[in-house]
Amino acid sequence: MAVPFSAALSDALLGLRDRILASPGFQRFAADFPFTRAVAQQRARALFDITAGFVYSQVLYACVELDLFQTLAAGPLNLDDLAARMQMPRAAADRLLRAAVALHLLQRRGLERSGVPRFGLGRHGAALLGNPGIAAMVRHHRMLYQDLTDPLALLRGELAQTELGRYWAYAGNAQPARSQDAAVSEYSALMSVSNAFVAGDVLDAWSLRRYRCLMDVGGGEGNFLIAAADRWPHLRLRLFDLPAVAARANLRFRKLGLAERAETFGGDLHETILPTGADLISLVRVIHDHDDADARTILRAVHAALPAGGTLLLAEPMAETPGAEPVGDAYFGMYLLAMGSGRPRPPRELKAMLREAGFERIRLVRTRRPMQTRLLVARATGT
Ligand SMILES: C[S@@+](CC[C@H](N)C(=O)[O-])C[C@H]1O[C@@H](n2cnc3c(N)ncnc32)[C@H](O)[C@@H]1O
Repeated sequence: MAVPFSAALSDALLGLRDRILASPGFQRFAADFPFTRAVAQQRARALFDITAGFVYSQVLYACVELDLFQTLAAGPLNLDDLAARMQMPRAAADRLLRAAVALHLLQRRGLERSGVPRFGLGRHGAALLGNPGIAAMVRHHRMLYQDLTDPLALLRGELAQTELGRYWAYAGNAQPARSQDAAVSEYSALMSVSNAFVAGDVLDAWSLRRYRCLMDVGGGEGNFLIAAADRWPHLRLRLFDLPAVAARANLRFRKLGLAERAETFGGDLHETILPTGADLISLVRVIHDHDDADARTILRAVHAALPAGGTLLLAEPMAETPGAEPVGDAYFGMYLLAMGSGRPRPPRELKAMLREAGFERIRLVRTRRPMQTRLLVARATGT
């Protein structure tokens, strides 16, 4: 196939680079030579980390399952105490703890007078305690790993049913609105625990002062609205989700004394005309769950529900996020494949879809942790 000259030149240069990098002689040289040694070691380590990633995440999984971070939050413990609590032989406990120390999940805290080593939280373990959503994600990764056991079968569409497909009742489901509470409760609870940081980052990035009514579409159990209500007491609230999920949100609003301010609507986003009346609509971690045709339908429905000049907040992790490419492109790419629908999209693709749906003045607004969520803000044109 004919390629442009610039591409042919670039291929030739990159081919040369690849041959050099693949050469064992060059690798030995780069690892010895003082000016390249540090970079060579860094790259070898990075490649090893990719190779061993599964083992690392299983060490994390074991720590989470054993509630090690919670246990050590109260202070360091010695190896014998930890082995007893973890119900495993001392040597096995030592092996797991060493692995966790190497991954900065735990930290060695010297020896007791008796010579028994002590362990406390490491920097990652401590950070993990501050975001319970991470532990919940780690636990439910069991299903993702199951689905990824044979990644080629998954990629080729040879798996009749995936664990994550079962878990996310709406993914690839022709009639998701029929899902009962039992089918949505687990994922809704997971979304609730992982929503806090996302909601905080979005609400810190965009002020809701000038809006009257916020409708959160695909709003789950209502966490985003609850956080918004807390900051902006003047705001009226609406939530749209599958009927069984909207019912859960309704219950929460009542429990929190928000029933006066909050209305819930149940339906299927792919089919329903969304209620009008809100001047601000949010889609938080929703669009990436849907294949292109459905995502377009949702954006059009959101546009139709907004008045001219109304605002849309579209917040989710996105592909091609500088510094977080593996999160969007590798993690969410494979995760959503296993789930059975959707894909992470780069901001430029989402912007194009938004324009197509009738939005204008589409801007990427800076968020605190783009790895976790990015934010597109768009204005609805008149229909
Ligand atoms: C990944 S969760 C995000 C929940 C919440 N926005 C958050 O960030 O915590 C996606 C939400 O979209 C809802 N959803 C998915 N497909 C839907 C559909 N066809 N109709 C209505 N809601 C749907 C799910 O029930 C779920 O609550």
